[in-house]
Amino acid sequence: MKKTVFESPQHLGRAAAALFFKLYQKEVRRKGFFTAVLSGGSTPQVFFRVLAAEYRNNITWDRVHFFWGDERCVSPESPRSNFRAADKTLLSKINIPAGNVHRIKGELDPGEAARAYEGELTEFFGVKAGGGARGGTPSFDLVFLGIGEDGHTLSLFPGSSALRERQRLVVENYVERLGAWRVTMTLKLVNNASNVVFLVSGENKADVLREVLEGGPGRYPAQMIRPAKGELYLFADRSSAGRLLGT
Ligand code: 6PG
Repeated sequence: MKKTVFESPQHLGRAAAALFFKLYQKEVRRKGFFTAVLSGGSTPQVFFRVLAAEYRNNITWDRVHFFWGDERCVSPESPRSNFRAADKTLLSKINIPAGNVHRIKGELDPGEAARAYEGELTEFFGVKAGGGARGGTPSFDLVFLGIGEDGHTLSLFPGSSALRERQRLVVENYVERLGAWRVTMTLKLVNNASNVVFLVSGENKADVLREVLEGGPGRYPAQMIRPAKGELYLFADRSSAGRLLGT
């Protein structure tokens, strides 16, 4: 894992946008398009803003396809929707074709939403035909993830049955602690990506980050993110990782 500690959440957001741009350029040169998976939570908001403000005119947006790692089971207009969070600060500010925005339909029944998203991914990546896939599983160019205070990532919470899923790419997952359904990508899918980046900020993440990095393996869902053939990055701000990584 490549770990970098940034002075502030602003610096972290800028670095995430710079990495996005670098990989976008590389992939567009290589294969003509770029696939990026966005996360929910508050940490990516600075990254979204920087991308919309500073890279808007440097990116040919019809070459970019956005996906989501997880979604709450709410309508796309809900303040709790992960799609809406990205739409407000990023998507509505750039000139991206609607067909390049692949949201999870949180307004559907959770099982139906998961199957529909899996179908959309399979079709997009032409998995059956083997295009854009590695070992028959889609391979995203870049996946952004967060870490929750309880060590969850995506909507894979500690103890969730979804953590044991080995076949499906996307599943519905009931989260006991929240008393709510979520739809989430699985480890099988995310661990097949070329680049996975954890964005972590805030003092409230210091304890869990220490546990995830230094505690015994297999306790937290975030520890199960291990791209088989890709790069894994941790972008953390000083308040979450300063003491831990000695900066
Ligand atoms: C979600 C997320 C989730 C998030 C973490 C971190 O929908 O809840 O995708 O996994 O990334 O909870 O959230 P913060 O950035 O707000 O700390």
